[in-house]
Amino acid sequence: VGKPSIASHEGSFVDRMLHSGKTMVVFYGSQTGTAEDFAQRMAKQAKRYGISAAVCDPEECDMEELQRLIAIDKHLAVFCLATYGEGDPTDNAQEFYEWLREDGRELQNLHYAVFGLGNKTYEHYNAIGKNVDKRLDELGGVRICEVGLGDDDGNIEDDFMAWTTTFWENVCQKYELVINADGSSFISMRQYKLVDGPFPPETVFTGEIGRIKSYEKQKPPFDLRNPYLAPVLASRELFEEGCLRSCLHLELDISNTRIKYEAGDHVAVFPSNDVVLVNRIGELLNANLDEVISLVNVDEDAQKKNPFPCPCSYRTALTYYLDLTSILNTQILKDIAQYATEENDKALLTLMGSYSEEGKVKYKEWVLDGYRSVVHILEDLPSLKPPLDHLCELLPRLHPRYYSISSSPKVHPTCVHVTAVIVHYETPTKRTVKGVATNCFQELYTKHHALGHGQHNKEENGCDIAGRFPIYIRKSTFRLPFKFQTPIIMIGPGTGLAPFRGFIQERHYFKTQGKPIGETILYYGCRNHAEDYLYRDELKYFVDEKVLELYVAFSRDQEEKIYVTHLLKKHGEKIWKLIKDQNASLYVCGDAKNMARDVHSILIDISQTYGEMTPERATAFVKELTQKGRYSQDVWS
Ligand code: FAD
Ligand code: 2AM
Repeated sequence: VGKPSIASHEGSFVDRMLHSGKTMVVFYGSQTGTAEDFAQRMAKQAKRYGISAAVCDPEECDMEELQRLIAIDKHLAVFCLATYGEGDPTDNAQEFYEWLREDGRELQNLHYAVFGLGNKTYEHYNAIGKNVDKRLDELGGVRICEVGLGDDDGNIEDDFMAWTTTFWENVCQKYELVINADGSSFISMRQYKLVDGPFPPETVFTGEIGRIKSYEKQKPPFDLRNPYLAPVLASRELFEEGCLRSCLHLELDISNTRIKYEAGDHVAVFPSNDVVLVNRIGELLNANLDEVISLVNVDEDAQKKNPFPCPCSYRTALTYYLDLTSILNTQILKDIAQYATEENDKALLTLMGSYSEEGKVKYKEWVLDGYRSVVHILEDLPSLKPPLDHLCELLPRLHPRYYSISSSPKVHPTCVHVTAVIVHYETPTKRTVKGVATNCFQELYTKHHALGHGQHNKEENGCDIAGRFPIYIRKSTFRLPFKFQTPIIMIGPGTGLAPFRGFIQERHYFKTQGKPIGETILYYGCRNHAEDYLYRDELKYFVDEKVLELYVAFSRDQEEKIYVTHLLKKHGEKIWKLIKDQNASLYVCGDAKNMARDVHSILIDISQTYGEMTPERATAFVKELTQKGRYSQDVWS
């Protein structure tokens, strides 16, 4: 096959591969960056076997070209795919997934492997990874390795490393390859080269996610790549005075933006890192954070030209583009080990990065159990001084955080409400960690309340991005029933109340419009009546208005725990009748880990007890409710 000119094949991943002699491609379906990171790491690992690999975002590729890939000798197509929400693909893999499921053509002899990223606490564990693996097999693909299932609730790093070991063993066997003995020579290999300035000021990014200067000149439509810089109109503390924790109510202005939302949608917020952390990195590495740099992919055919919007200053990269607080993976430790001058520090990083049995134990103990992020590692290993540009290349991207919108557009058409509990905890090494996004909320709240009022005015925020949050709306399937009369049973302890506040507002609105409203029942749970009872007065108002039937479980107001699940069990007969005789819809929101699972088993119990079903029949019945859209979950961990 002749080498085509790259200019005419910008969109074709196969042409780009042919142009640069690549035989392997790793696609990623990523929402928070982990799958993308794994894809990059696999491409890096490939070099050790003499394989050159491309990393591709399926959204940017014509995936029908997979058929052309088959013609490349010793080709390999790897898919690192995360499962999101209720068994959904990530946004960037949506189109590919639909194409593969519905009209995916024959892929006879496509050499492929799939690694799924999921979370065992969710019902549809790794559904996307499993389905893609199965479908590729049905279409005639040749599976190189059994599907890998990464569990984010356990140790996904471990799952990934174990799977890649088997994957490479299988590849070596199939293609008769041997590992490059001097694997270490690839460790320091840089994927991006540092290009120094000067850069014309109009080309320098200052925190924008997509288009340069997009925050100065905002142009709809607003989405993931073009967020809207939303002014915060109001903020208030929802927990009572004296409560040691904090939960904030924020109102984000979306007037004159063409942004539309529905009750149940999510708002994505792009956060920025704490200035203290950013400065600390500058201090620890003795770097001038105001230096403007550009990191450019050494592989001219790569889909991704820069690891983040470039050129920009180190300060911008560390504030808006890079994740400084998550736990570092073993690949990064391996890559930075070379920069430790103290033998003990280097040995520790090399050991953890090696992923030997001993290395795994050390990694778990020192990094995972110690909750060590990049700043902690630089502090604890003082001889470790990676060049800041290399560190910026290696750190994962900072990703948006999602919030279940807590308002209804019927009542607040130009405003999106957020109900966020502030993340704040101490690590085993006695460091205080603040959640990235919620710390931004907290800072904004403190700033405005220092001025003595909760209502913010737009001018006050100015154009300062720190006073506004880049946002976009992510559509969800968490929706009120089509008919107003259909009864709804909402189960939402803690901030799980958020979307239900929107639902209740909406039902109240329709009632005031003279529409007949079905029973609207809320099971809400919090710790104490006097401390963390969210929106107490509003809920009382809706009860008084005869819109809402409210049951609250206070878990810590008495000796024994009382949870929403206990109340559900107690009201089993009534709930059964609502579901069975009145077609009620059920909604669960909040903690995915225990609460959602416990509610699920209570529903099975109720079906067994009051519907006189066998355990198998009851399980199937609850599953049918989900399939019919009458039992929806909006849960996170
Ligand atoms: P981060 O910097 O992301 O830190 C959070 C991480 O810190 C956790 O993942 C955990 O690894 C770690 N951590 C937290 N506490 C501890 C601890 N005690 N010990 C050790 N480690 C800890 N949140 C809401 O408050 N309200 C909502 O309505 C809401 N809706 C959501 C809807 C969806 C679909 C999703 C996916 C999430 C939702 N969340 C909601 C969660 C929200 O997106 C953020 O994850 C949360 O606000 C924390 O973000 P952060 O940037 O402040 O914290
Ligand atoms: P706890 O913290 O006292 O255990 C919001 O977080 C509320 O949900 C709290 O009152 C919390 O109680 C409660 N909660 C914790 N685990 C739960 C579970 N498995 N089911 C229902 N509620 C739960």
